Formats: sequence, C-alpha cells, structure tokens
Amino acid sequence: NSIGLFGSAVHEGQTKTGTELAPKALREGGLISALYNLGWEINDMGDIQGKNHEIKKFKSQFFRNSQQLGIINGEISKRSFNIASKQQFMLNIGGDHSVACGSIHGLLEHYGDELRVIWVDAHADCNYELGPNKNYHGMPLGHLYGAITDPIKGFEWFKNRLNTKNIIYIGIRDIDPMEREFIKDHKIVFFGMDEIIELGIGQVMNRILKLFEGKPIHVSFDVDSIDPEFAHGTETLVDGGIASREVHYLLRKLAASRWLVGMDLVGINPLLEKTPELREQFFGDFQQIGRIQGTQTVALGIELIASALGRTLVL
Ligand code: ARG
Ligand code: MN
Ligand code: MN
Ligand code: MN
Repeated sequence: NSIGLFGSAVHEGQTKTGTELAPKALREGGLISALYNLGWEINDMGDIQGKNHEIKKFKSQFFRNSQQLGIINGEISKRSFNIASKQQFMLNIGGDHSVACGSIHGLLEHYGDELRVIWVDAHADCNYELGPNKNYHGMPLGHLYGAITDPIKGFEWFKNRLNTKNIIYIGIRDIDPMEREFIKDHKIVFFGMDEIIELGIGQVMNRILKLFEGKPIHVSFDVDSIDPEFAHGTETLVDGGIASREVHYLLRKLAASRWLVGMDLVGINPLLEKTPELREQFFGDFQQIGRIQGTQTVALGIELIASALGRTLVL
C-alpha cells in the first residue's frame, strides 16, 4: 500500500498568487505523518515548481502562461504515469486546477479508457479557446475532452483524451454558457447542488459508485466545491456549496470502495483566508492521523486527503 506523492506548486493557471504555497503549507501542517499514521508507505517525489520554468513572455491566443503550463503539465503527466505504473496511489497536491491536465493525462496513459474521473468543483473547468477568462484553471477538462484542437507550444506531449462518458461532476454551481452547452451536448453526468440537496449526498454516492463499479477512479478535488464557510482560502469563492461533512463523507465512500487510484487536491490559497484567526488557526489532534495544523483551508485539506486515503470514523 503505497502512495506516490508530489506537489505541483503552480499558480500560472489563474491570476492570483498563493496557490503555489499550498504544497509546502500542507507538508508543514503534517500531511506526510497523517498519511504515514494511516498505514501508507510514502514515495514523496517533492514539488514541481512553476517558477523553475519561467520562460520569456509568450502571447498565446489560447490562455495565459500556456507554454509554461505545457511544460509543467508534461512533467506532472510523466510522474502520474510512473506512479500508476508502480501500482501506487497517485496524489497530486496543487496548485491551481490547471495541474489536473497532467495528472489525468498520465493516468489515462496507464489505465486507458478504464479510468473514471469524479470532478468535485464549484466550476465545470471545460472552457476552451473562446472561453471568457483565458485562465487555464477553467479549461483543463475542455482540453482533455479534445475541445482544443490546435497545437499549443509546450503541450507537444499531449495526446490522451478523456471520454465524456467517463466523468461525473459533483458540486457545480458556477458555469459559463459554453460549458453548459458542452455538458448538455455530451450528456455528461452531473450532480449539482440541487441534486445533492434533493437526493442527499448518500444517494448521490450510491448512484456514482454504481455507475463506476469496479473501475479505477480518480478524484479531482477543487476546494472551492466546499461552502466558503468551511473553505475560504481559495481563489474563486462561490456561495451555496457542499458542507464540510458531506465532502468528507464523499471521500470516505470513495476510499471504502477500494477503486480509488488517484487524487488531485487543488485550489488552496493560504493567502486568501478570511480573517487573521483563520490564517493562523491550529486544528489540533485527531485520532488516526495525529497532529495537524495550518490555516483553516490548509488544515481542512489535510483532513480531506486523510478521508480519501482510508481514515474512518472511529468510536
Ligand atoms: N469558469 C471560470 C473560468 O473559466 C472560473 C473557473 C474556475 N476554476 C477553478 N479551477 N477555480 O475562468
Ligand atoms: Mn511564479
Ligand atoms: Mn476547478
Ligand atoms: Mn473551481
């Protein structure tokens, strides 16, 4: 039982700095010992630094920092593939959500069309070249679905496609017109906030696990899926989100299925916590995972990873 873990210290997928600090904050907060205490062997590959790839400004018609993001995601894809090839759990610590392009691409390389993806997010992240903001964190799925067809400098390695039948969205509540159209056209399975409220998270998870039964599952988890009350340290806050207890439940169910093979944890920006208290808050000692600390959202991030990696609720 081992985890191949790396940080993707990247903020280039959007315009605010801070997400590149999350891997370090999660490590300092106790992530590694929490995983160790859950019984995992850990192959920690260290962090991929966005700034090691600083390249002369390249004006792209596609999105900001496209060449840098291509180089970084190429490296992420290689790591993700190598980890999966060794039958290890692939844990990618972002960074903004642009880093999911590489991790999913690498898993597709190993698992092929068997791979299933659960995208937990306030956003659908499937814009493509005419998208509104030109930030790649809103586009990795558009790219993986094959909706961007022109070659992009830096992405020469990119070849795998994610079939729209093999993904399910959870928590989406802020969606751009071209994303809505794409999701409808391709009939992508979708559990938005209304479905979570009407069915309850228990029934949502029953349905998802039935649809993905026995397949290798990757969860791409953007902390902005969670209600800002519980996770304020993120760049694109959207009110009316999933409660903290519900996302923990969701991740525990995935862990219990034993089909989970990978996770991205993205979107944490420790600089954007709401108050000085939440920027400093100490979250204390937990059975099974030990002592963790960090800003509100950093500490929550460690706990979420623990829930996805086998932490149970002990009496
Ligand atoms: N839909 C918006 C965009 O394309 C917001 C995307 C937010 N994505 C995220 N990963 N936080 O720019
Ligand atoms: Mn930078
Ligand atoms: Mn996202
Ligand atoms: Mn989001």
